[in-house]
Amino acid sequence: MVIFDGDRRVFKLDTNNTSYIMGLTDEGYLGNIYYGKKIDTTDVVYTMRTEEHPFTPENLPGEKIGFMDRFPMEYPFNGTGDFRVNCISIKDSAGQEGLELLYKSHNIYAEKRKLVGMPCARGESSMSLDIVMSDEAVGVEVVLTYTVYEECDIITQSVLIKNISEKEFYITKALSACLNLENDVSDILSLHGSWARERHIQRSKINYGSYVTESLRGEPGHQDHPFIAVLSENCTKDYGDIYAMNLIYSGNFIAMVQKDQFDRVRTNIGIHPDRFNWKLEGGEAFQVPEAIIQYSHKGIGGMTRNFHDFFRSHLLSQKWVEAERPVLINNWEATYFDFDDDKLVQIASQASKLGIEMLVMDDGWFGHRNSDNSSLGDWYVNEEKINGGLKHLVDRVNSLGMKFGIWFEPEMISPDSELYKKHPEWALSFSDREPGLCRTQYMIDFSRPEVVDYVYERLYEILSSANIEYVKWDMNRPIAEVASLSLPADRQGEVLHRHVLALYDLQERLIRDFPNLLLENCSGGGARFDAGMLYYSPQIWCSDNADPIERLMIQEGTHLIYPLSTTGTHVADSPNHVNGRITPFDTRADVALTGTFGYELDVTRIPEEERDKIPAQIDKYKKYRKLIQTGDYYRLASFRENSRYDSYMVVSKDKNHAVIIYVQVVTDSNVLSKKLKLCGLDSEKKYIIDNKEYTGSVLMNVGYIMKPLKGDFKSVVIEVNSCN
Ligand code: GLA
Repeated sequence: MVIFDGDRRVFKLDTNNTSYIMGLTDEGYLGNIYYGKKIDTTDVVYTMRTEEHPFTPENLPGEKIGFMDRFPMEYPFNGTGDFRVNCISIKDSAGQEGLELLYKSHNIYAEKRKLVGMPCARGESSMSLDIVMSDEAVGVEVVLTYTVYEECDIITQSVLIKNISEKEFYITKALSACLNLENDVSDILSLHGSWARERHIQRSKINYGSYVTESLRGEPGHQDHPFIAVLSENCTKDYGDIYAMNLIYSGNFIAMVQKDQFDRVRTNIGIHPDRFNWKLEGGEAFQVPEAIIQYSHKGIGGMTRNFHDFFRSHLLSQKWVEAERPVLINNWEATYFDFDDDKLVQIASQASKLGIEMLVMDDGWFGHRNSDNSSLGDWYVNEEKINGGLKHLVDRVNSLGMKFGIWFEPEMISPDSELYKKHPEWALSFSDREPGLCRTQYMIDFSRPEVVDYVYERLYEILSSANIEYVKWDMNRPIAEVASLSLPADRQGEVLHRHVLALYDLQERLIRDFPNLLLENCSGGGARFDAGMLYYSPQIWCSDNADPIERLMIQEGTHLIYPLSTTGTHVADSPNHVNGRITPFDTRADVALTGTFGYELDVTRIPEEERDKIPAQIDKYKKYRKLIQTGDYYRLASFRENSRYDSYMVVSKDKNHAVIIYVQVVTDSNVLSKKLKLCGLDSEKKYIIDNKEYTGSVLMNVGYIMKPLKGDFKSVVIEVNSCN
């Protein structure tokens, strides 16, 4: 529900449980004045405190700058007196940087418009609000667009910047959303890590000054994540206030929390302004990515479940949300580059007998690539390895009753490639310096339309040549030396964003031309696991580290925001190839249950007793697949916090079924069994666990007795079913 109260000059955006309120001053400044539990009035304009000194500029023109630096500006602008973190900065053709955005008009409408060239939340039946702000002196109009997703308690915000003058100007900063909060939040939640340990949760204190989480790598990266939440001190997984922001964007980002001189907290999120400078000619418009914002008073878990519902209903392709994803086997950790068609068929043949449904041929099938030193860009099948060609191989795999998937890394060019010999200028590079290598590869220059078309042609041809039902789209280096030999000096600041737009364009074409293709994104594991990529691919490879113990922390952080069905989870070898940890085969499978289950090992070479367990593991996955894909996720305990054990559960929407996953990382000696308090059940219903009957109320308040498991790294999966 979106309303404008014309008397009070207030916009009110209501979801089922929240209200987001903005107000206009007499001059037309737009203030962000309330966000929290749903209220039933627009009579909150007094919270803008425009009657406090310094009054609004109209009443006290001599103190305009003081006003600007106190007012809770909805979309703060740079250079005219608001010295806090801002959202937008424009340099005009005279080199001046300063904006004053004032209200011009608004429009409330019952639909969600798709952003041009960018992923965004879907939802045709939602209500939206456009507020047009302008600075006539600069010649800019800024359209703030909000859409309300009532049932998920989520609001999205995007911004369109229009040059309404005849002269060009440069956008040097354009963030997506901002919240102005009072001092009732004290903590920050953000995600951090590295390759092979992505998205670990960090909780820190809000102090005076600014806290920044960011990426300048051309993608969100392994290190930080385009998400930030601020929360009350007493906020736990089950209750407390939390405000969260997530960005539907797959490039550089910044998210900030700033506590100012008056103890107010401002938080914002958007494209990182460093290495960003967009020239906008008269009459042109620039689309800023969409941010997802939410408030929950139901703690961190409440936030998580809102995000999960929202992503499943409004971001992921509806075709895939409930579709059963095939159990796959990927040959990367099985063979690395050392494979040929016969080896792949051997793996597929063994895998098919065990119930695995798809073979994915990973890196190394094209050009003359036998290591990571060559051939990116040469998307032609290496027939020395794939004897008889791709179709022949795919047909052989299909004849075993298995689907076939393939790996690409389309954004790259190897110096040792036919493509680079022909087009060295297609690599991103400075004009006067040899570009730096990473994994012996360069970034391909996607700001050149001919390059994007070439890459698409190659993908199209390969995918049309055989019955390929899945693509793993990889991206294995950060983007440095960001310059295109094809762009003029004053457009070099556009290269990184143009790269992201081209990536979106390619993935859009791919799913349009191959509507049944299952796309899985990947970036050196999980460096580009974000809402932008999820718009195109319903699943993303979560991390190159499949060690189940490390995965507990990676998956806890990932599932803080993203639905379980979006996480690529595989059972891999032990000792683990990344960290050498030795873990039981069963635990590896139990931890992989809460994702898109698969195997990443040589099934022909693992011990027979492990191989024999695979059919039962697959049956278990299939038994819970629907529940895990569609249910509500609750965290019961966190190994990250307690250093001993981890547990989480998924409850069906009708609260009739649940599954609990419990991993005892470190075994305890001489301890009593634990009372594990379950969550999300119906307190009135009766449930059966292991043939014993309990009420939901007892399970949630008194707890389920979890007996200690003998041995480190042990796991158990517990089924809960209602019996009335
Ligand atoms: C990345 C991926 C891996 C694998 C390799 C292939 O690291 O995350 O899963 O595909 O590339 O080079």
